[in-house]
Amino acid sequence: MPSRREARATALLAAEVAPVRHARARRAARIGMGFGAVAIATLLVGSAVAVTAALTGPAIAHDQVLDAVGARATLPMPEEAEQIPAPDSAAVAAASDPCAVEGVTGLIDDGDDDRAIAAAGGGEAVRAAIADGGAACFALDDPTRVWTIINKVHAFDPVDYSPSPLTSSLGVRNLSGGSLRADAAAALAEMADAIAADGAGEIALHSGYRSYTTQQGSYGRQVASRGVEGADLVSARPGHSEHQSGLAADVVACNGGCGSIDDLAATAQGEWIAANSWEYGWIVRYEEGHTEVSGYLPEPWHLRYIGTELAQAYHDGDFHTLEDFFALEPAPDYVD
Ligand code: DAL
Ligand code: ZN
Repeated sequence: MPSRREARATALLAAEVAPVRHARARRAARIGMGFGAVAIATLLVGSAVAVTAALTGPAIAHDQVLDAVGARATLPMPEEAEQIPAPDSAAVAAASDPCAVEGVTGLIDDGDDDRAIAAAGGGEAVRAAIADGGAACFALDDPTRVWTIINKVHAFDPVDYSPSPLTSSLGVRNLSGGSLRADAAAALAEMADAIAADGAGEIALHSGYRSYTTQQGSYGRQVASRGVEGADLVSARPGHSEHQSGLAADVVACNGGCGSIDDLAATAQGEWIAANSWEYGWIVRYEEGHTEVSGYLPEPWHLRYIGTELAQAYHDGDFHTLEDFFALEPAPDYVD
């Protein structure tokens, strides 16, 4: 069976957008070759002039050689660049509003988030449109979506929202009977397989879905031991935890027995996750150095599933918080 990465590569090749990307790459290569050919010809002519000059008179500076052969004045525009057609109006409309692309809202209605994003032009196109205040069909306050935003400023609506269905058949070691949404569970299993296949060892789920009332208990215990200010840096208040979406997974490394969440970062599994989890649709949600935006101290173990399309854009754009990704206000503190 092909790996998720292989399957994704195959799907990309087969997708309608693939020929465009490949055509662009081929075009770029041809343009590069055109410039290369001009450069070689220029060098040959320039060399001939330089050799002649060396034999017949004083040395001529390289700039003078170029001027002498007229290379600067006669460098042609690459033929291919001149032939790039003007974008059609439908493509322009799609770029400005991904929701206007045919089929996108239907895929969203079907709950096929990743395919909706792909159809809308890909993760970066959707991200940019959301960041610009558009793309209304990709509502960030919809808790059923991979693009949902949950933080100290944005609570679940309703506050006791619960996803359905949830699955505890994870295909990975499950330390506390945790569950996840089916798409997140499948992505976790695929990532766990990839980690093992790369020789980085085994991961297990430490904590997945947590209900509003479960989070009340978790947060309450942190308040009891650290006080409100300390607790707010490590635990979300009920109604504000990504775990309530079924799209967050706290993972640990296992080598026979399993370590704690605090141990993960220093393990091969933790290093693999920091570098590669985006390929499986996951991001490390609370990174070091971004507490002022995310509101939380670093949690290398807390993974958030956003789907492969958005995770690719998150990685390629070198983002470190979902707030920055969607150009939202920082969320260091609660507003209520
Ligand atoms: N520890 C994270 C912030 C949570 O409680 O959801
Ligand atoms: Zn967590």
